[in-house]
Formats: sequence, C-alpha cells, structure tokens
Amino acid sequence: SLYQSHNNNNVVSNPRVKPKQPFFIGVAGGTASGKTTVCNMIISQLRDQRVVLVNQDSFYHSLNAEKLKRVHEYNFDHPEAFDTEHMLSCMEQIKRGQAVTIPNYDFKTHQSIEPACKVNPSDIIILEGILVLHDPRVRDLMNMKIFVDTDSDVRLSRRIQRDTVERGRNIENVLDQYARFVKPSFEEFILPSKKYADIIIPRGGDNDVAIDLIVQHIHTKLGQHELCKIYPNVVVIFSTFQI
Ligand code: CTP
Repeated sequence: SLYQSHNNNNVVSNPRVKPKQPFFIGVAGGTASGKTTVCNMIISQLRDQRVVLVNQDSFYHSLNAEKLKRVHEYNFDHPEAFDTEHMLSCMEQIKRGQAVTIPNYDFKTHQSIEPACKVNPSDIIILEGILVLHDPRVRDLMNMKIFVDTDSDVRLSRRIQRDTVERGRNIENVLDQYARFVKPSFEEFILPSKKYADIIIPRGGDNDVAIDLIVQHIHTKLGQHELCKIYPNVVVIFSTFQI
C-alpha cells in the first residue's frame, strides 16, 4: 500500500524517522450524550484529510437464541457485552495503515448482519462508543482521548426518543432497561473512564468552541506530520513532537 512504500522510503533515508501512523482519536461518553454529533462536527471540519469513523457498537457480541429469549435481562452497557479483543485487533491493524473489515451490528435483532463494512487506510481514525476508554490496551493506541459530558436528564430524554423511533423499542422497556442496566453501568464503568480523557466536552455537540479547539489541535499535529514528510532530515529536530 501507499503507506508501506512511504514508510520504507523514510526508513531508508533516515532510520530515526518513525513510520507514519494514522492519528487515532477516541470519543467516549454516556448513552445519547452526543458522541456521534461531536464526531460529525470534527469530521466536517477536516476536509483535506482522509477520516474513518468506527463505532464501538459494531463490536457487540451477537445474541444466540437462548439469550434473545431473555433479551430484557441482558446488560448491553457492560464491558463484556463487547468483543473487545476483536475491536483491539481491528484498531491495531488500522493504526498500522492496513484496511480492515468491521462487523455491522443491527440494534433491532441484536446481531451482526451482512454485509460487513470495509474500512480503508486513512489519516485520522475516530473510535466512538460508551466504553472506548475502558480497556487500557485500546486507550494506549489513541493519540487523543475525548469524553463527551452531557447531563443525564438530557441523555435519558434523547435516549427515549431515539430508541422508540429508530431502534424499534417501546417506552416501558426503554425506561426499565435504563434503570436496571444503563444507569448503573454508566456509574460503574463509563463515568470512571472520564479520568483518562485528555479533553472533556460539556454539552456535547452544542459546544462549538470545544470542537474548534480540537480541530485546531489535530491540524497542528498533522501539520507537523506533513513537515516530516517534506523534509525528512528536519524530522530529527521535530521528532519529539511526532504523533
Ligand atoms: N444497546 C441496546 N440494544 C442493543 C445494543 C446496545 O439498547 N442491542 C444500547 C446500550 O444500552 C447502550 C447504547 O445502546 O447504552 C449504546 O449506544 P449509544 O452510545 O447510546 O449510541 P450512540 O449513537 O453511539 O451515542 P450518541 O447519542 O452519544 O451519539
């Protein structure tokens, strides 16, 4: 691929230059906090870069017939609901500049469905989901960690709206699931992961200033990267800033 030939050139001309790696951003936060909106706002301002958005939801374990019968007792907000090993290996591959196949999850049937989604190599990868800051191995791949912090009453009302309209649920089940699983798991697993964030965004997608600052930072980091490509010998001076 383009990446490999570029890397090899760099390695030959200057052995101290690290191979180019995509810039990896993690975006965590409670359910319906506005993670998707934040990601889309960031992406819309990164016009000249290749960006991929990967959703942690894609890595939910599929439920078998037995678990489907008791779906209302299943905790979708627990870290073990996700196939984290699979997510980690996909993210490692993308970080190495390789194309990967990401499963396609259906919230109505609680299963992975075909076709899966092919993700091409890119300059920026964004991984979004309630628990993307939970696993230290996944966190360690990230160059920037964001936590979207939105009041829980706002999140619950959005969640009711979304699950009844888009995910085919009835309101009693949404409220029951929220009280039994969503809220306790938020407090036990999601909120404690906030301490790993580099940036905490209050009010999610309504915070234009935060989004502007984040995009500026990404441009700065990628700009240094571009300099490294154009002037490989100058790289040594800048190498401590490399992403
Ligand atoms: N979930 C569910 N049924 C499933 C799988 C997941 O109800 N079969 C719920 C989990 O309870 C979890 C939520 O989906 O709380 C995760 O999605 P969420 O983060 O709310 O969706 P996003 O659109 O990614 O979030 P945002 O609104 O912040 O963009």
